[in-house]
Amino acid sequence: MKLRTIEIDLTPEPLPDAAVGLIKEASDRVDVFMEAHKDSPVAGFVPSDFTLAYAALLHVRRTMLASGDAFCEWGSGIGAVTCLAGMLGYDAIGIEFDPDLVDVAEGLADDFDISAQFVCGSFVPTGGEHFTDVPQEAAWLMSGGLDAYEQLGLDADDFDVIYAYPWPGEEQVIFDLFKRYAAVGALLVTYHGIDDIRVQRKVSSHK
Ligand SMILES: C[S@@+](CC[C@H](N)C(=O)[O-])C[C@H]1O[C@@H](n2cnc3c(N)ncnc32)[C@H](O)[C@@H]1O
Repeated sequence: MKLRTIEIDLTPEPLPDAAVGLIKEASDRVDVFMEAHKDSPVAGFVPSDFTLAYAALLHVRRTMLASGDAFCEWGSGIGAVTCLAGMLGYDAIGIEFDPDLVDVAEGLADDFDISAQFVCGSFVPTGGEHFTDVPQEAAWLMSGGLDAYEQLGLDADDFDVIYAYPWPGEEQVIFDLFKRYAAVGALLVTYHGIDDIRVQRKVSSHK
């Protein structure tokens, strides 16, 4: 299996008011969360550019790139991207290791009346823990913990779109996990900082 890059052209356009409101509130809650956790920060929690993530997910939806609506955010943090996916009509699920972040994400979805589900656990499927063994000083990717898929009654290959913001140096872990566990045809949307957002599709090696 391999990943094929899909070029996307994100022409800036005004966002709907609902998305603007959610992004503003989510950004404020990130600040509150960071301040409250300044003495014990959640390792590796850095938010995406929510506006860019919205634009990419909107593009995927408009151009019908995905084979279905099942969306999962691997490491959903404050939950903003999963909420935006829910707003766009995806069946949105966020998997997050840190319980405090899950609480904030659930509050965000409730307050904006968005249908999105958050699970506290690991998006690394059981048996895939060795993928996370990368020598690095400040690794964000947690291993161990509760199996999120067991709680959901779903597998990684049940999702049509997976979104992640890998920490620099750990991109390949996300790519390798996706290659191994996602469904053939599924899309991986990844944010890599500043204005770098990528869409890749899992295809069989001979394609
Ligand atoms: C770089 S942050 C990105 C947060 C969010 N996706 C966003 O873009 O705003 C990575 C998140 O992944 C979470 N995380 C790390 N390892 C995880 C794992 N094995 N399972 C679930 N979440 C994990 C961290 O707690 C952190 O919130």
